[in-house]
Parts: sequence; C-alpha cells; structure tokens
Amino acid sequence: MKKNIKIFESDFDQKELKAVAKVVKSGWLTNGAVTESFEEKINRNLLNDEAEAVAVSSCTAALHLALIASKIERGDEVIVPALTFVSDFNVVKALGANPILCDVSSLTEWSPSLEDVKRVTTKKTKACILVHFAGIPCKDIFKIKKFCKSKKIVLIEDVAHAPGAKIHKQSCGSIGDFGTFSFYSNKNISTGEGGAVSSKNKKDLLKRIRSHGMTSSTLDREKGRVFSYDVSEIGLNYRIDEIRAALGIEQIKKIKNKNKLRRKILLTYLENLPVNVLTPHKAALENKDLLSVDHIMPVLLPHGIERNKIVEKLKIKNIQTTMHYPAPWSFSAYKNDFSKSKTPFSTEIIDREITLPLHTLMTQKDAEKVCIELKKAIS
Ligand SMILES: Cc1ncc(COP(=O)(O)O)c(C=O)c1O
Repeated sequence: MKKNIKIFESDFDQKELKAVAKVVKSGWLTNGAVTESFEEKINRNLLNDEAEAVAVSSCTAALHLALIASKIERGDEVIVPALTFVSDFNVVKALGANPILCDVSSLTEWSPSLEDVKRVTTKKTKACILVHFAGIPCKDIFKIKKFCKSKKIVLIEDVAHAPGAKIHKQSCGSIGDFGTFSFYSNKNISTGEGGAVSSKNKKDLLKRIRSHGMTSSTLDREKGRVFSYDVSEIGLNYRIDEIRAALGIEQIKKIKNKNKLRRKILLTYLENLPVNVLTPHKAALENKDLLSVDHIMPVLLPHGIERNKIVEKLKIKNIQTTMHYPAPWSFSAYKNDFSKSKTPFSTEIIDREITLPLHTLMTQKDAEKVCIELKKAIS
C-alpha cells in the first residue's frame, strides 16, 4: 500500500506517556505545580524571560482573556488580519466589539504592514491583533507597536503558529502587550487542547480571570494557605489541567530538535517547488532579521488554476492538503460584518492558497514527492 502523506501527524513517545502517567498517579489533576512548571518553561524557552505566561485551555481562551484584560467592550473596534483563523474574530464578537479586517503586505509577505494597520484605524480602535502566520514573524511589528502605543491601542500577538519564533532576536509573544499561544493537537507544541497568554505585567490579573476571578486557587486552599477567597473581577474557567501541562513540558523539551526537522522539510520544499508556485517562506528565509518556526507550508497556486482539481489530483496520490484559511466574508455568521473588497492581497491569497504537508514525521523524500506530484497536477 502507498504511504499517505498527511497534512500533520502527532509526534509523541514514551516521555509524554510517562509524564502523563505520573500526573495521573499523583492524584492532583489541575491547578497545580505541573502547570506552574509548564509556565516557567514557556517563559524560558518561548519568551526568553521577557514576558510571563499564564497557561490556559486554548489560544481562543488566551485571546479572550487578553481582550477582557484590556477592557474591550461593546462598540469598540479591534483590527484583525483578514488572513487568519476564525477564533480571532469570534473572541472580539463575544465581547460585543467589532472585528475590523486589515490586509496583509503582499502576495509574498502574508502579515500586515504598518500601512495596512493605519488604513483601518479609527477613533474607535482599541486593540490590534497581529498573527505570525505560518510561523513567520510579522515583519512590521515594531513599527506597528510604536504606532499602537501612540494611539493607546492594545497590541496582541497571536503566536498560535509561531512558538519560539523571533524578530531582531526578540521572541514573538514578548513584543506586544499580550501574546497568545496555541498548543492544539496540530501545533508545533501539542497538548491536545491548550494555550497560554503572555504579558509583561498582567500575570496576576490574567491568572485570576483564568479561574473565575478568584483571588486564591484550590491548591492554595488544599495547602492550608487560605480558607476562602474573594472574587475580585468577573472571570471564567479557562484553566489548563496538569495532564496537558505535563505533555507540554515534554513537548517544549523537544522543540529545538523538532524545529530542525521542520526546517529540513521546508528547505526541501523550497528547492523543489514548481517555479510558478509562491510561498511566504521564501522571503522570510531571505530576511536575516527573522527566525521563523515553519509551522505550516502554505503555497499560492499559479493564476487561473482550479484549486479543487489540484486538491483532488494530490488526494489520488495519497497526499493530503488543506487551506489556511477560508474567507471570513464567506462565513454565514459574518455576512453582515465583512466584505472582501477592502483587502485585495488577502483576497487573492485566500483564492489561490493550498497548504501542503509539513510535520516532524515526514521525510525529505516525502516533500520531494509532494513537489513532483504538484508539478504534474498544475502542468
Ligand atoms: C492563528 C490562530 N489563532 C488562533 C487559533 C485558535 O487556537 P485554539 O484552537 O488553541 O483555540 C488557531 C488555531 O488553529 C490559529 O491557527
């Protein structure tokens, strides 16, 4: 039988199994020392100790907490790139605020420029979410940070694709007012479901809103440190549990080596992709200020090619593909919010994009095969 080349595969071994078993045997399953240790590891390994993380149940939870902590409310506007996952829009809408789409720089650089952000800024703009798409740091982030500061706009980095990525040697997630990480199954660091929100000085507030707004935790009470608690603000239950935190610790230990494997696959793609197929990774690799972490392999098909046909042809060859992301204006829940006319680059990318397999269990030969089949499919 021919090998399936999947878009993504989980990569765990005995180390994760042992770590999970240890937590289960300990009898303490949430809100404890393993979560604290996971947070320390995120700080050290992903944030270079330049911001502090609070581990949570997902990146969506992290984004929601960042917006709540920034006091985003009904009628406020939050800038979000058109090229992103729907949770960036949903968290804004959940607070009664309005997500405002901004475009990305070009067909070869898929994050917003300062001009893209400025173009959609109004008096109502209270926050701006930037996405380090595909693991590539947003090139204009320092300029955008300066602009946001001058307008009192909160800057949130969505680091779901980019744990450990750097720009000018500074870690993604430690540049804006908040960083939000995803440890969902298919991410570079996987705990099944999970995430983290980072900040320079909001750790205590974020910890409280993560857990109902309570001023003490179950662990504090079990250790006899306190008997009761106050509820100092309205919070939610966005805690991660100790089992996932244990998985996360083992995954972080492996991240450097795993990223090297990802880089090998990426380089193989760049050497072998058909010349008329574009990818944002090319410009990113050429830019020495950026250290990207190669989360996914998005490409733009040549003009006039029917995407569905390519997807089908690759599927017949046991090569799975996907897309990042469907158009926000195509979602029925957003039909009154968005129109495509204002974001021409994102619109074209969304129309022509497919994502090829990229994960740590595939080989360079697999990537070569994908390129050969892609060439045949588009010729
Ligand atoms: C860019 C981006 N932001 C946010 C999320 C949401 O992450 P989670 O599933 O951890 O809530 C994702 C998930 O795929 C994502 O890709």
